Amino acid sequence: MTMKKNETKNFDQDAAQWDEHPGKLKMAGDAAAAILREVPLSADMDVMDFGCGTGLLGLQLLPQVKSLTGVDSSQGMLAVLRSKIAARGLTNVQMQLIDFASGERPAGRYHLIVSSMTLHHVPDTAALFAEWFDLLHPGGQVAFADLDAEDGSFHNDNTGVFHFGFDREKLKQLLHEAGFADVRATTASVFSKEVAGRGLREFPIFLITATRREV
Ligand SMILES: C[S@@+](CC[C@H](N)C(=O)[O-])C[C@H]1O[C@@H](n2cnc3c(N)ncnc32)[C@H](O)[C@@H]1O
Repeated sequence: MTMKKNETKNFDQDAAQWDEHPGKLKMAGDAAAAILREVPLSADMDVMDFGCGTGLLGLQLLPQVKSLTGVDSSQGMLAVLRSKIAARGLTNVQMQLIDFASGERPAGRYHLIVSSMTLHHVPDTAALFAEWFDLLHPGGQVAFADLDAEDGSFHNDNTGVFHFGFDREKLKQLLHEAGFADVRATTASVFSKEVAGRGLREFPIFLITATRREV
């Protein structure tokens, strides 16, 4: 499997059907369940969902927090989220169209930043962790889910895939270097998928949590 390092994926074309995929619903549901297990949420928290897509993760946390800001580079994904906000009459959900890889940066300050299955689409992981640190209130937390290291067979097309999963220990080290403490990893989910010519494969998905260290 080859990684197409210079190509980004256009998620707009997937947006309208995104929520029809049982696998995507399961991964977001498992990430939300893992966050609810690992992170104490409260009604005074402003939460950002980075790479929110159609809001599958963040909207599951919304009932327990004050506000949700969905950040994504895909207009199509945000259009689906916008229609959910309108249909449900939500007044505490905002959106920001931001392509982090192009140098754009989200606005605001947050108590918690969550993310699911987006990290492997962002080329510079260390830069993203540094940005998350700056976006958090003192003592704020991150909680993100993504693939453990894999051989490139998770995606049928690796366009826009900049990492074939991650080594948990390397991510923990990067988080420490970015100024985070209390860094922990658990398994959020195991995704089973038929891979052409190789049968049914299992892809574990971690949840890493960390707290902004104060000096
Ligand atoms: C695999 S999808 C996951 C979406 C959602 N978190 C979910 O679980 O359904 C990855 C998302 O990250 C967004 N994304 C990819 N690269 C990005 C970047 N550089 N800046 C912001 N968002 C990005 C994509 O538009 C897409 O919505």
